[in-house]
Amino acid sequence: MIDTTKRENNMIAPEASAGMAKAVAAVRAHTDEMRRGGQTPRACIMTFGCQQNEADSERLAGLADAMGYELSASPAGCSLVLVNTCAVREHAEKKALSSIGQLKHEKAKNPSMVIGVGGCMVSQQHRADALKKSYPYVDFSFCTTELWRVPTFLQTRLDGGPRRFPLVSESLSETDFSEDVPVVRASRARAWVSVMYGCNNFCSYCIVPYVRGRERSRLPEDIMREVKDLVATGCRDITLLGQNVNSYGHDLSRGVKFSDLIREISKLDGDFRLRFMTSHPKDATDDLISAMAESRVASRHFHLPLQSGSDRVLAAMNRRYTAEKYLSIVEKLRAAMPDIVITSDIIVGFPGETEEDFEMTLDVMRKAQFDMIYSFIFSPRKGTPAANMEELPEETKSARFSRLIECQNAISKEKNDASVGKTLRVLTDDALEPGQLPTGRTDGNKLVHLSGHAEPGEFYDTIITRADTFGLYGDIIKA
Ligand code: SAH
Ligand code: SF4
Ligand code: F3S
Repeated sequence: MIDTTKRENNMIAPEASAGMAKAVAAVRAHTDEMRRGGQTPRACIMTFGCQQNEADSERLAGLADAMGYELSASPAGCSLVLVNTCAVREHAEKKALSSIGQLKHEKAKNPSMVIGVGGCMVSQQHRADALKKSYPYVDFSFCTTELWRVPTFLQTRLDGGPRRFPLVSESLSETDFSEDVPVVRASRARAWVSVMYGCNNFCSYCIVPYVRGRERSRLPEDIMREVKDLVATGCRDITLLGQNVNSYGHDLSRGVKFSDLIREISKLDGDFRLRFMTSHPKDATDDLISAMAESRVASRHFHLPLQSGSDRVLAAMNRRYTAEKYLSIVEKLRAAMPDIVITSDIIVGFPGETEEDFEMTLDVMRKAQFDMIYSFIFSPRKGTPAANMEELPEETKSARFSRLIECQNAISKEKNDASVGKTLRVLTDDALEPGQLPTGRTDGNKLVHLSGHAEPGEFYDTIITRADTFGLYGDIIKA
């Protein structure tokens, strides 16, 4: 029987891609004209949020470059500013809104500046509406599904067309993407490769499924082409991205899964590391653990968000696993790869979380022995089920947050201390300020402060001499 819910691919029609190319060429003619008039067309891409947004911004940078703009780190004096926003917590939205607010002054100084705002925050109707009404200097807004349409929105505006704000439900229902969007990467040595977009999980606190739409996988051959190009050009660290990489391929009719990608990439020659994020504990399979353990290039790092250690809270969060199931995955990972670094995400102060629930989280943390965690105070997100649940008092949330950090800091220090005296292979960062001492990352993604000179974006064998809660210190012994 043919499963009609699955698709051959999730790509826009060739005519739509041709439309994008036409708009790119039209804007290019405009920037060429500016150059002939003695001006330098510059574009600034401002990014908030997670790796997914960073990856999307590298595509926006690719489009800006193809349209003839020079990329600039600051909006001052730019002809085009694109802001890529995040909505995961209230704080993220506030930061993006404050940056958009400041653009008012830039545009007052430079009225021909075109401002476009995209990403997760403005993929909520109330935010798109507020932008249209209260930020009259913003020219257009685009949803997370509309990156490839940005040249068209820009061209329309440059041609004197109206401001553009989407009906979000319509934009988010058209989720097909283009494989023809160019890319300008922020780093030579490290790269993000999206393997899929969207999320189907609807954890009860999370806005992501509402602003990024349903899961859509890229075709394996398109992913492999991108990865091969990166390896061929000397990229050293490749991270496969998806909100839940373990459901990669489930939407495609051809029966491909995430572990197949790991196995294919592991066959490539080249000196590089392979990472991926994020894995949902409900889908972290034995097959994935084996693919990783057998791989020459897969890093010994696994990010496995726990969120809470209480089964009652996990159920209220709609996470669909128990603390016991979670700990069994940790055990399997350590059995297969004894040196593995395990990191996690934890939310404190979810509605209804009792002192007992919170202590269960501390208990699982002590058992799991994470190397590091990202910890968050619950932030209600409009339109999610948890936003209608009764919130805990601020004091309770912040007191638990401090206790969580204190508990983890002691574990992190102990875990990092265990690396002292070892020789680890460190990949140096390639975005250092002048005069800054080099830093880098171990295979397990731990931060290392290096003494002496090191070239950016290269591997160095390093002897670890000291450790603290947040990282390691080491001396390079050889390249
Ligand atoms: N898809 C990934 C990442 C989601 S967002 C995953 O499932 O792990 C990254 C983290 O932000 C989440 O893991 C969660 O810990 C946190 N987060 C998401 N929504 C939140 C909210 N409303 N309040 C506080 N933290 C939240
Ligand atoms: Fe959000 Fe859950 Fe999807 Fe992660 S898996 S993006 S936490 S809904
Ligand atoms: Fe990422 Fe923020 Fe969107 S965390 S998926 S940019 S809401």
